[in-house]
Amino acid sequence: MKKIRLGVNIDHVATIRNARNNLYPDPIYAAFIAENSGADGITIHIRKDERHILKRDAKILRKTIQTKMNLEMANTKNMLKIAELIHPDFCCIVPENRKEITTERGIDLKEERNSVKDSILFLQKNNIKVSLFIDPDINQVYIAKELKANCIELHTGFYANAKCEKQKTEEIKKIQNCAKIAKKIGLSVHAGHGLDYYNVQEISSILEIEELNIGHSIISRAFFVGISKAVQEMKKLIEISRK
Ligand code: PXP
Repeated sequence: MKKIRLGVNIDHVATIRNARNNLYPDPIYAAFIAENSGADGITIHIRKDERHILKRDAKILRKTIQTKMNLEMANTKNMLKIAELIHPDFCCIVPENRKEITTERGIDLKEERNSVKDSILFLQKNNIKVSLFIDPDINQVYIAKELKANCIELHTGFYANAKCEKQKTEEIKKIQNCAKIAKKIGLSVHAGHGLDYYNVQEISSILEIEELNIGHSIISRAFFVGISKAVQEMKKLIEISRK
């Protein structure tokens, strides 16, 4: 059965560090342990206000990550410059709203078609693959293809936050449908947001999904069991769902 990759998002290690403007806990060290414990990639989000990951972190991580570096970023000129400088393997374009606690929605490709198109061209010219974080909406999938993105990351937050079984089933169906269509038209499919040790297998058993990006639940669990065990446990869960 086709393997599934786990990208570990280490933003929240930086959140704790920045609470005291200290050097610890160090996200560079966290990435190192995550990779050595089975992470297939490291994901970071440089927000416009650098509230967690700093440019300094991204520069060092570029030199230390041995798997794959995925940089989540808003679609702005400044962020494109940072991406050009850092040169991650993947950039995942996300919408960003200064007041939000975390990313709330996928990017609306209908609204932002032209600017996203230019950004994709710019990043791909710099040999950076582009992923678009979108809501599980078929129209968005088709636009992502039209804009020549390399892949989509399906927003699983609506599924994760569903208040009842009916809503959960509806959200799963949307994700399954979008993943199927995306794969069929030649887009790689990633997924993430709000995934934890209880809900991950329903998503990881969707065979078209090649990669999951998970942060908050893994870093939270790491408080009690350490990063290494937290990553290994998540990796095991997603691998089991593919057997
Ligand atoms: N994917 C994207 C595009 C995100 O913005 C985030 C949150 O930074 C994640 C995945 C990870 O979400 P979570 O921290 O809820 O696992």
